[in-house]
Amino acid sequence: MKENGLGADVVSEGELRRALLAGFPPSSIVFAGVGKKEEEIEFGVKNGILCFNVENEEELNIIEKFGRKYKKSITCNLRLNPDVGVKTHSYIKTGKEENKFGIDLATAEKIIKSSKRYKWVKIKGLHFHLGSQIKDVSPFIEAIGKVKKFCLKVNFKPEILDIGGGFGIPYRPDDRVCDISEFGKKICDSLKDFGIKKLIIEPGRFIIGNGGVLIAKVLYVKRRKRKNFIIVDAGMNDLIRPSLYHAYHMILPAKLRKNGKIKADVVGPICETGDYLGKDIEFPSAPEIGDFIVVMGAGAYCFTLSSNYNSRPRPCEILVNGKREKIIREREKYEDLWRGEK
Ligand SMILES: Cc1ncc(COP(=O)(O)O)c(C=O)c1O
Repeated sequence: MKENGLGADVVSEGELRRALLAGFPPSSIVFAGVGKKEEEIEFGVKNGILCFNVENEEELNIIEKFGRKYKKSITCNLRLNPDVGVKTHSYIKTGKEENKFGIDLATAEKIIKSSKRYKWVKIKGLHFHLGSQIKDVSPFIEAIGKVKKFCLKVNFKPEILDIGGGFGIPYRPDDRVCDISEFGKKICDSLKDFGIKKLIIEPGRFIIGNGGVLIAKVLYVKRRKRKNFIIVDAGMNDLIRPSLYHAYHMILPAKLRKNGKIKADVVGPICETGDYLGKDIEFPSAPEIGDFIVVMGAGAYCFTLSSNYNSRPRPCEILVNGKREKIIREREKYEDLWRGEK
C-alpha cells in the first residue's frame, strides 16, 4: 500500500507505531479516535504526522499544549458528527447524533469561531466517517451537503476534507458490490464548487476485506434430527464477526467429496452458544473429519479482533502471492498466553 502511494489512517498509538514501522512517512498519516490519550497525542506531535482528526474541544487544548512544547504548528481537522444515517449494522454506524463519534455542528461552529485563540493548532479541515459496509453513495453526498452548508454558515473555507471510509464489499455470493467508480464520480462532482485542496479517503475493508481467508480443520461432525453441526478448530476467538455483528461469511469446503450435500452450522470449540462461524451453511459435499473448510472475506476486522479467549493461542498468518507463500505472523505458543502474567 505504501509503495502505491497510500497513507495510513490510525486510531491509536499502537496503530501509529505500526504504520511508522512499516515505513509510512509521518506526513502521510492521519490520527483519528474518540479517546486519544495525552501520551498518544504527544507521540503523534513528536513524530510530525499529517494531521489529527479531532473529536472534541479538550483534545484541541491538549494538542495546543504539545504544539507549544515542541514548537510545532499542528494541522487539525474537526471530525463532525453530521447526523447522517447509513444502512448497516447498528454497531458499525458512526455518523448519527446518538453515536459517540465526532463533534455536533453547533459545538463545531463555536470551536471554529474561537479558533484564533490557538497559536499552534491550525484547524485546516473537516472530517467525517459515517460507518462501515456502505453500499450506496447517497449518505456521502448527504453528509458533504451538510458540511458545505455548515461551512457557508460559519464562513469557514476548509483546505482539507476527509470523508472517512466505509465503502462496502460483498460477503455473500449475490451481494452487491459498491460501485467505486460511481462513488468516485458522484463524490467528486459534489465537491466541484467547494474549493478544497486535499481530499482524504480512508477505505479499510474495501482494500483488504476480500484479500484474506480463514482456514480451519474439521474436528467432528454431529448429525441431529433438526440440525447438523460441523465442529472446527477455529472459533469466535479467531473470527468474531458472526458472533459480534451476526455477520455472514461464505464458507466452502477446501476439497469436494462425492458424498452428497449437507446443511450445517459451522461452530468452534469455545464454551459459548454464540460461538459460530456460519449458520445453516449449505455445503456442496459434506466435509469429513480432518478436512479443511475455508471462511471467505476474512481480511478485515477478523485477525485484529481476535483474542485468546478460552486460552487459545492464535493461528499463524500466511501471505500468498501466486504460487509463493510466506509466514508473516508466527502461530502463537502456549507460553505466549501467560507472558506478562504474575
Ligand atoms: C475513522 C475511520 N476511518 C476509516 C475506517 C475504515 O472503515 P472501513 O473499513 O469500513 O472502510 C474506520 C473504521 O472503523 C474508522 O473508524
